[in-house]
Amino acid sequence: MPAARKANLQVLIRCAAIDKRVREVAVEITKDFKGERVHLIGVLKGACIFLSDLVREINLETSIDFIAVSSYGKGKQSSGQVRVLKDLDSSIEGLNVILVEDILDTGLTLSYLLRVLRQRKPKSLRVAALLDKPSRRLKQVRGDYIGFTIPNEFVVGYGLDYGERYRNLKDVCILGLPAE
Ligand code: IMP
Ligand code: MG
Repeated sequence: MPAARKANLQVLIRCAAIDKRVREVAVEITKDFKGERVHLIGVLKGACIFLSDLVREINLETSIDFIAVSSYGKGKQSSGQVRVLKDLDSSIEGLNVILVEDILDTGLTLSYLLRVLRQRKPKSLRVAALLDKPSRRLKQVRGDYIGFTIPNEFVVGYGLDYGERYRNLKDVCILGLPAE
């Protein structure tokens, strides 16, 4: 569906730019873990499209798993509370784990997940995020691999949703809504 035709959507990052950047991030990961296996953990549901594209560009032995957490209600505001809705299928002990996120916003989700995953003794633990909104940070966390740093706007597309909608947009778009 052509994203820009929706009246309240404004394209921020075009799909061609996303594709190029995802390939660059994958090259970086491939270099950093030369000769080793990486275990990608996607944070559902937002990261599923980023992870799918990223893993196919990584030229290493890989495995994938998913974890689902909920920190947001149906709207734009974080509730600040993180819950695990679906845990990992298998142990990460001794693995090179890359946690794959759609977006780093307040950092509450990531700091919680890093705490949980560190307890499980991975060999290494890094973070790849398609988008970073550093201006909204409440917890001091950072990604090791960042696709794009963006301004303080609510965005949808390429996996990111608003009330479960818009994940299928190929571009990342700013969603304009009346103030809540
Ligand atoms: P954090 O815990 O505030 O860092 O939020 C992380 C999660 O909130 C992300 O994984 C997204 O699911 C969601 N989120 C944060 N900002 C946006 C946005 O601009 N659009 C859509 N989802 C967002
Ligand atoms: Mg979401």
